Amino acid sequence: MKKLVMGNFKMNGDFAMIDTYGDTLLQLQDEKGPWTHDLILFPPTPYLNELQIILWETDIAIGAQDCSPHGGQGALTGEVSASFIKDMGCTHVLVGHSERRHKIHESNETVIEKLKRVAEEGLTPVLCIGETKEEYEQQLTLDRLHEQLKDLPDVEMVIAYEPVWAIGTGLTASTDLIAERLSQIKAMLKEGTPVLYGGSVTPDNAAEILALSEVDGVLVGGASLKAEQIDKIARS
Ligand code: PGA
Repeated sequence: MKKLVMGNFKMNGDFAMIDTYGDTLLQLQDEKGPWTHDLILFPPTPYLNELQIILWETDIAIGAQDCSPHGGQGALTGEVSASFIKDMGCTHVLVGHSERRHKIHESNETVIEKLKRVAEEGLTPVLCIGETKEEYEQQLTLDRLHEQLKDLPDVEMVIAYEPVWAIGTGLTASTDLIAERLSQIKAMLKEGTPVLYGGSVTPDNAAEILALSEVDGVLVGGASLKAEQIDKIARS
């Protein structure tokens, strides 16, 4: 079954990397044919257009890693409105990634405002949720997830469950834990909302994670920085 494979480059890359990455994906598509899963890539905002132009004739969609909680246009220096992201031809926007929640101190309220702006533009928000290591150890995971999922507007969205302790650490959650958490999360959501897993997904563990019936896809950070690796994951 076709699932979603999302690649989050985070604050990485430059024009040379983006050009090589895009060309490699085109070559891999020529050699191996279309990808098994739907591939969506999230480069840094300044490179959205570059990657989009290279991959124009593929089925790969492009999304942004963040946007302003304010909509439309106006006197807000430095802000990137969801309407700009739409204008660039993107289809998805990540909101509430744990690095923004924890390192940039983005509140749940701000995250929800961003999610609304994305949906208002007809784009798909990918809402990232997940507990910290401390919350996990103190068995506060479900409390945290409930808090992050409360006050959600009634709009189409994708949820990405990413335990903070599994992000960039090589500590992937076990398949049993992923299956259990995703069922618990789905019980808190409108029926049919896709839920992804993220946290140290690699070409080596993607197949068993994507095979879980509870999993609608994966959000990949570090391993998405090499075109050959995201290609393998999207063919798992
Ligand atoms: P990781 O990051 O795959 O490097 O753990 C996942 C993410 O932050 O989305």
